[in-house]
Amino acid sequence: MSGSPRFWDRMAARYAKSPIRNEAAYQEKLRITREYFSADSQVMEFGCGTGTTAISHAPFVEHILATDFSSKMLDIARGKAEAAGISNIAFECTSIDELATDNQSFDVIMGHSILHLVEDRDAVITKVHGLLKTGGYFISSTVCLDENLPILKYVLPIGRLVGLVPLVRFFTGQQLIESVRQAGFEIAHQWQPAKGSVFIVAKRI
Ligand SMILES: C[S@@+](CC[C@H](N)C(=O)[O-])C[C@H]1O[C@@H](n2cnc3c(N)ncnc32)[C@H](O)[C@@H]1O
Repeated sequence: MSGSPRFWDRMAARYAKSPIRNEAAYQEKLRITREYFSADSQVMEFGCGTGTTAISHAPFVEHILATDFSSKMLDIARGKAEAAGISNIAFECTSIDELATDNQSFDVIMGHSILHLVEDRDAVITKVHGLLKTGGYFISSTVCLDENLPILKYVLPIGRLVGLVPLVRFFTGQQLIESVRQAGFEIAHQWQPAKGSVFIVAKRI
């Protein structure tokens, strides 16, 4: 199900320094997400990267389990959380497919800029479904490269062979929404902040 953490370990320092591409859209995603939080929410984020989103949401929930399979990304995330005085995030180095947590543990699970990076998105979405409490929410933001840059389908595998790019999957926003529905969710909110990008709030039913 997984790609390799090696690429992301190498990228971590540069990723931490790169600015958010569309700050207004990012702030809107944070705002919408918080509509689904309460002070006692148990939250999980997979592919949390350098922790920016988890750290920003932490004051609005009881606890966040923030996971990523890159230890270098997590080193940066832990440093940022400590600097921000945030103590209700537990960081865990694990691939989403190996995450060993009881089913029905979380009120909200977030996966941002990650669903196009896993080998088998259906398996990951099904796993997320199992980890959520009934009525819980899966909130994701995904680049759908089949909509805006399908040509990359032929270029990226070469880059991957020489370690320059990570595993990347190509699909449309509609195909992703279908995967989410098939796993047992209903779509509570969907938004296309830009062409080839989809933000989805899905309720576990
Ligand atoms: C594009 S970055 C996104 C980071 C963060 N979610 C954000 O929105 O800035 C993708 C992250 O997913 C992590 N990742 C990729 N595949 C993963 C997997 N199978 N399990 C856990 N983390 C993974 C990478 O290490 C990287 O930190």
